[in-house]
Amino acid sequence: MTTIAVSLTMLASATEGMWVVALLNRIQHAEMTNMGLNLTQEEIYSINQACLKDAIVRLNYGGCTGEVVSAQGLVFTNHHCAYDGIQTLSTVDKNYLQDGFCAKSFEEELPIPNFAISFLIRVEDVTAEVLGVVKPEMTEQERDKAIAAKSKEIAGRNKMDGKYEPEVKSFFYGNEFYLFVYQTYNDIRLVGNPPESVGKFGGDTDNWMWPRHTGDFSMIRIYANEKNEPAPYSVNNKPYQPKYHLKTNIEGIKEGDYAMIMGYPGRTSRYLTSFGIEQAINGRNPAIINGFGTKLETWKTFMDEDPAIRLMYAAKYASIANTWKYYIGQTQGLKKLDVKSKKLRIENQFHNWVDAGDADRKKQYGNALGLIKEYHSEWDGQVVLSTYAGLCLAGGAEFMGHAVEMKGALSAYLKETDRSKRIEMEKEILSGQEAFKKEYNAKVDEAVFVALVDLFRKNIDAEQHPEWMKTILAKKFKNNTAKLAAQIFKTSMVMNDAYLKAFLADPSEKTLSKDLGMQIAAASAEYADGIRAKNPIGKFNKGYREFVAGYRKMETRQLAPDANSTMRVTYGKIKNYKAADALIYDYYTTTNGILEKWDNSNPEFVVPDKLVQLIKNKDFGQYANEKGELVTCFIGDLDITGGNSGSPVMDANGNWIGLAFDGNWEAMSGDIAYEKDLQRTICVDIRYVLFVVEKLMGGKNIVDELTYYHTPVVEEKMLEMPIKIEPEPQPAPAPKKDPKKKK
Ligand code: ARG
Repeated sequence: MTTIAVSLTMLASATEGMWVVALLNRIQHAEMTNMGLNLTQEEIYSINQACLKDAIVRLNYGGCTGEVVSAQGLVFTNHHCAYDGIQTLSTVDKNYLQDGFCAKSFEEELPIPNFAISFLIRVEDVTAEVLGVVKPEMTEQERDKAIAAKSKEIAGRNKMDGKYEPEVKSFFYGNEFYLFVYQTYNDIRLVGNPPESVGKFGGDTDNWMWPRHTGDFSMIRIYANEKNEPAPYSVNNKPYQPKYHLKTNIEGIKEGDYAMIMGYPGRTSRYLTSFGIEQAINGRNPAIINGFGTKLETWKTFMDEDPAIRLMYAAKYASIANTWKYYIGQTQGLKKLDVKSKKLRIENQFHNWVDAGDADRKKQYGNALGLIKEYHSEWDGQVVLSTYAGLCLAGGAEFMGHAVEMKGALSAYLKETDRSKRIEMEKEILSGQEAFKKEYNAKVDEAVFVALVDLFRKNIDAEQHPEWMKTILAKKFKNNTAKLAAQIFKTSMVMNDAYLKAFLADPSEKTLSKDLGMQIAAASAEYADGIRAKNPIGKFNKGYREFVAGYRKMETRQLAPDANSTMRVTYGKIKNYKAADALIYDYYTTTNGILEKWDNSNPEFVVPDKLVQLIKNKDFGQYANEKGELVTCFIGDLDITGGNSGSPVMDANGNWIGLAFDGNWEAMSGDIAYEKDLQRTICVDIRYVLFVVEKLMGGKNIVDELTYYHTPVVEEKMLEMPIKIEPEPQPAPAPKKDPKKKK
């Protein structure tokens, strides 16, 4: 085989890659078409016509994706993406999170505080301009600074008087730069969400796992002013009229069907080297797992006892539990799939490629891996300490971060002599305090402080402890963390509003510097910053910049850039997988599995009575498949990561068939190395979503608002017709599947 043929076969089988939607090229489009896509490039991304990209939105709160699916600005995303917003709108008595919510009219929709969504307007390659400011003699720090300043300048001149939010993003570790221009809408309202027993069915037990039966969706609506432009919340705002909205296809999926996902994946590290794998397995990950695990355990004891705390901490808990389990899975995956060896092979290949090259190649890429190695030998000894300092101290108890901010604000307040300015500052300080306390329970946080400080002490040698542990905790409190915590929580202005108000009325340097809470918080932040400052990140950045640039030259196939919260597309097929020896997982689940998992004594597996009845009666309406089953979730070999949550899964015609919401346990190291045969994206089927909306939530109004796609009934007509129709002439070597075979 020639080289070209080899690279084409590689392309045809590779589903790896979160491709930049705006940069899809003809080779990729040809591959997508070969796999089944029926759309032109312009129908996917265009700046001249309405296209798929106009229906994909970035959720600015919590970093997820959503899709516009009606002419009236209706957006679907995951349940876990709107979770925080739903929690904010809930009370113990009116608990939408637990019981679900469904607006029957626009008037009933609920504005979600702090929510915002952005549309992508356009993308521009600004690599030449950005890298134009870089000079060879620059240090890494100078380089970063120059690039940041240039990026800011480029963004600044694309704001269009504040109409847009432009952002310059680095790709391939500082080798390429693109400008992304967004328009942001701030009046976002909750349209509906299923009860938690559907939206989070399976809870943390099923999270990151297949087979899955979760109805992980929620519905929001974008509101705009009378000119259809962004505006802050107002009763006069109207549902937004989108440039484009997805059509819904409830005809169902089959194994082998083409599928694609567009959305905003957050972060991957596909170019990580074997050194990075070592660092993750032996340094960072175990510390993260310990730190988050301890926090979760502590929170849970309080949440189990008190429904108000359970509601108040629901979103924080879910988010950390998700990350905690992610790192457990990633570590297992890295070991089990021996990712380090895979990376070593690439590095060997890279060495050989450099060696085989000319002087120029050696000069450009010959130091890359050496620099990365140097970075690791200097920094890896500090990783455990740095991670614990961040997770247990500076970012441990919730009050720590807030106390540092408050300390800064109070010192400024103390120095301010202008009376009117002081009044302004006082207002800000008090409203900051109020915002912090809104989702805060001091009893819970006191326990967290004790647990995390003690976890730190258990894992870090005494000589490395921060000064305050040696003096205040050891000497004054005889190493009794609980006593220290009790003192902080009893006396600090951070937890005691009365003391804060007394200080504001009569501020003094002495009171401020003696506040034990602020003292320990500030010292902890400084300590953690001090450790982080030793990170020789310049070597890492330069090493990876050169390694990735060389790697892209070495590889014959196209490589996708790591995810960086910009709009991407991934395409592949609906597909089962072999999870272990003799264990093959089907590509879809049905409501039968809900009844199998059903256990009302376990909060994670409760099934609402009404849903049990609907399933038992097979009351699935138009949503049943040809066997009379109701499909709940399905999987495909699509390449996504966190941030893609809520993204639409689309068929070959760009119609909406589901929402992506998770990845599978067997391939949790997938953000670092894609696992072609093992890695699957877990999606909730649109038929289950609409069944829940219509039959369980009573949202017929929503089902009716969507635009439906119907496959043209060509084949039946052809059967009736007596005349034989010749197939259209095909271009000579037709790589496309023979259309006759589909029948
Ligand atoms: N693992 C999913 C993700 O990171 C989130 C799933 C949320 N569900 C849950 N049970 N916590 O996108």
